[in-house]
Amino acid sequence: MDKNYYITTPIYYPSAKPHMGHAYSSIIADFFARFKRIDGFKVHFLTGTDEHGLKIQRAAEKKNIDPLKFCDEISKTFRNLSTILNLSNTDFIRTTEERHKKSVQHLWKELEKNDDIYLSKYSGWYSVSDEAFYNDDEITDKDKIKISISSGSKVEWIEEESYFFRLSKWQNKLLNYYENNKDFISPKSRKNEVISFVKSGLKDLSISRRTFSWGIKVPGNSEHVIYVWLDALTNYISGLNYPNIDDELYKNFWPASVHLIGKDILRFHAVYWPAFLMAAKIPLPTKVYGHGWILSGDEKMSKSKGNILDPLDIIKTYGVDQLRYYLIKEVSFGNDGNISKNKLEDCINSDLANNYGNLCQRVTAFAEKNCSSTIPKNIKFNDNDIKILNRFTDNLENLRNEIDKQNINYYIDFIVKLLFEANKYFNDQEPWKKKDDTQRLNTIVYTSLEIIRKISFMLYPIIPHSINKALNIFNLNENDIDFSSIGIHDYLKQGDPINKIGILFKKIDRNND
Ligand code: MSP
Repeated sequence: MDKNYYITTPIYYPSAKPHMGHAYSSIIADFFARFKRIDGFKVHFLTGTDEHGLKIQRAAEKKNIDPLKFCDEISKTFRNLSTILNLSNTDFIRTTEERHKKSVQHLWKELEKNDDIYLSKYSGWYSVSDEAFYNDDEITDKDKIKISISSGSKVEWIEEESYFFRLSKWQNKLLNYYENNKDFISPKSRKNEVISFVKSGLKDLSISRRTFSWGIKVPGNSEHVIYVWLDALTNYISGLNYPNIDDELYKNFWPASVHLIGKDILRFHAVYWPAFLMAAKIPLPTKVYGHGWILSGDEKMSKSKGNILDPLDIIKTYGVDQLRYYLIKEVSFGNDGNISKNKLEDCINSDLANNYGNLCQRVTAFAEKNCSSTIPKNIKFNDNDIKILNRFTDNLENLRNEIDKQNINYYIDFIVKLLFEANKYFNDQEPWKKKDDTQRLNTIVYTSLEIIRKISFMLYPIIPHSINKALNIFNLNENDIDFSSIGIHDYLKQGDPINKIGILFKKIDRNND
């Protein structure tokens, strides 16, 4: 079985500082990367910044700064955000790096060699904000301004000499590919829009611009820069050292397991990117998953709409794991979602502080008093103990399958259910009444500690920092986490010391509102 897993986030435009929408893509990708890692996979996790194109050039001009200097600054804030969000990315790519330029120019030459590129003239609509070309039927008028129907962003008319990619030639091959690879475009609900776009007839795609210079030069014609989306999409292979296809990274990790993206950039990933790859005779990624948006009110949060929420503010007030937990649990993955402070505080108080934090506190405090702060010895499981311990075992394969379908909500709902069951088990078993029956008392404590260990392992991809802290109860840390050991009921070594841990999640006092 292939135990390599390659996940990517979109590379972000460093035209302005990161917002919650960006944080969302990255946190979700990190969830999958961490899950796969504890499930025994070798994981490569790439994120980065998309630094060329007119959008960035104009943003730099507005500030009167050289575009590279401009990108240096903002790219740094994205890199810092990766650290603050506790992402476990194995690389961070900038499209202004030499390794990337080399890779894009090589890909261009491959397309040229295979007769997929020709020189002509483009005239049509272009949105600088989306860095996208639109057909006449994709635009409309709003307040006497032409805008894209799908994104709402302003479009401008351009006419210039341009190189074209023979996208039309790949129409049927793309449709066949979608047909034969049912999960390539996920979730299912987004597949139809892509298929009908392709079926409606693909026109050749303009892939160079001549009227500005901030980009990678077209090999052999330095008057043109390569279209920023052809440039940007290539990051997924330049991050693996393409064109050196004998490189270990490339050999191990291409094709990617999942490109995780927002639904607004599905066309680029599910139509253009596979067509470029087919034309260059490069294998296609296994899946492109288009998640929903984080909304502000009922609009997409974006810089151009001026309605952004800074993830750093939320993290400062509530903590990073609290934000991660909220986004993973409360946004139905694949659909749009909202950030509500009320719901975030509910999550913190009831799930994290009450359900998980309290369970850890109660059980360890009880063990400290009644089992001399050690993992109890002399235990004998009864049916009730085995029943709750088996709740984990029975479902492991199922959980793996659901994760492979990106069904994050299934995963976290299962954990929340188990947390309730775990607290109920401890209450119902009433170990405080078993002081005359050491074996029973020890067994209840042991079972509860095992449950805490298992749940903590499962929560790790969601709230890694807090779990690392919690595992200190057992003198374990994140490197000890192994998903398959969740099925073991006597993992904890009897007689080993256990440590008291401080408060994991502070409850939010809501009387101050
Ligand atoms: N640079 C391109 C991606 C190139 S990938 C080869 C780009 N950048 S972006 O910065 O505009 O957006 C990056 C990602 O953030 C996209 O997947 C987009 O969907 C996501 N989000 C931007 N705003 C968002 C929300 N409000 N909510 C959720 N995600 C959204 O597009």
